[in-house]
Amino acid sequence: MGSHCSEVWFEVTDLPVVSGLGCTVTTADGTEYLDFTSGIAVTSTGHCHPKVVAAIQEQAACFIHAQVNCYRHPLLERLATRLAEVTPAGIDTFFFANSGAEATEAAVKLAKQATGRPNVIVFSGSFHGRSHLTMAMTTSKHGYRAGYAPLPSGVFVAPFPHPWREGRAEDESVAQALRGLHHLLLAQTAPRETAAVVIEPVLGEGGYLPAPAGFLRGVKEICELHGILFVADEVQSGFARTGTMFAIEPAGVTPDVIVMAKGIASGFPISAIGASAELMARWPKGSHGGTYGGNPIGCAAALATIDVLTEAGFLDNVVARGEQLRGGLRALAEGHPVIGEVRGPGLMVGMELVDPATGEPDDARVGRVIAHAREHDRLLLMNAGTYGNVVRFMPPLVVTEAEVDRALTALGSAFAATG
Ligand SMILES: Cc1ncc(COP(=O)(O)O)c(C=O)c1O
Repeated sequence: MGSHCSEVWFEVTDLPVVSGLGCTVTTADGTEYLDFTSGIAVTSTGHCHPKVVAAIQEQAACFIHAQVNCYRHPLLERLATRLAEVTPAGIDTFFFANSGAEATEAAVKLAKQATGRPNVIVFSGSFHGRSHLTMAMTTSKHGYRAGYAPLPSGVFVAPFPHPWREGRAEDESVAQALRGLHHLLLAQTAPRETAAVVIEPVLGEGGYLPAPAGFLRGVKEICELHGILFVADEVQSGFARTGTMFAIEPAGVTPDVIVMAKGIASGFPISAIGASAELMARWPKGSHGGTYGGNPIGCAAALATIDVLTEAGFLDNVVARGEQLRGGLRALAEGHPVIGEVRGPGLMVGMELVDPATGEPDDARVGRVIAHAREHDRLLLMNAGTYGNVVRFMPPLVVTEAEVDRALTALGSAFAATG
């Protein structure tokens, strides 16, 4: 028997990494790779940021586990207070869990209790996790669901706009998708039975596809009209990834519930949901919880992470590096018509590859480009999208101009070599 580890995990690479620092991971034989995966959009402050490491070390010597039902450690309130400062206005009360899926489930449980309604609406192409409920809410790829039926009922899927793929102007695509949501509320789940609409402001696994601001505003209006809660799943798009603290901010939409994980603590497993105190108060005491939620080391890591993300100039770097990356990729697209669209705010950048003659998704080319970048230039990338035809760029947010240039050079070589 070769390995005692389960074979169930899909592998982006099987590189035997032993350490990480900043944007670099190092393998057992000392080879360094430029990590544009950030462990799937997690290590936003870079691998092992010294302030995060120090906070974890200090906290580990003090308390490793202080279970929230048994007693209250001080970092719980400190983190909730800090989150209230950085989340959209109106969100001021927080519940802590461990993973993105758990937090998404918690948001739905809160919505059901607060509204007394049974159903939720999600969007085509979304990814919300791998627990049974969040599998049912996930439509980015059937691979996440196949073989696990029966999944929980009460989940309805509305269309998500993709103007470029639809060949429509943005406002037409938004109007069409909003009509789809309206239709769903007439045809399949009555508003009085719909607790929440759960939306990723930028589809993550579904292809790094931003929701147009007009779409987010339109969905919010429909929610307000019917007393349906608007839940923003910012697990992948949150914590400065898109150049603002949360991706929903530029649309001017305040979610009723915001879901956070991944970038919240630079890799320490902790997640959270936030809502107004009034909404949280409608969640009956004792009706939800968990052994590890609000773990003190996780809280310490999150507090240190937020300190780093809110340092002067941090967001400016995300915006500038994002512009540099998209600019470089668009320049590359001029010589490579297989690059159909380059999109995404901040450092949540997707590059969709399609056959220029037919418009068909070209996932095979994505695979070859990613493999070439890894094997020849030691650049780590992942794909995304239902068709697997999107290269996604999610470097640590501390990525430098030189590192983005290095990645662009590697991409240039990869496209030239894989044509
Ligand atoms: C938008 C979104 N929601 C939820 C999840 C699930 O998070 P986790 O894998 O921590 O359960 C993910 C993970 O990729 C995600 O991208």
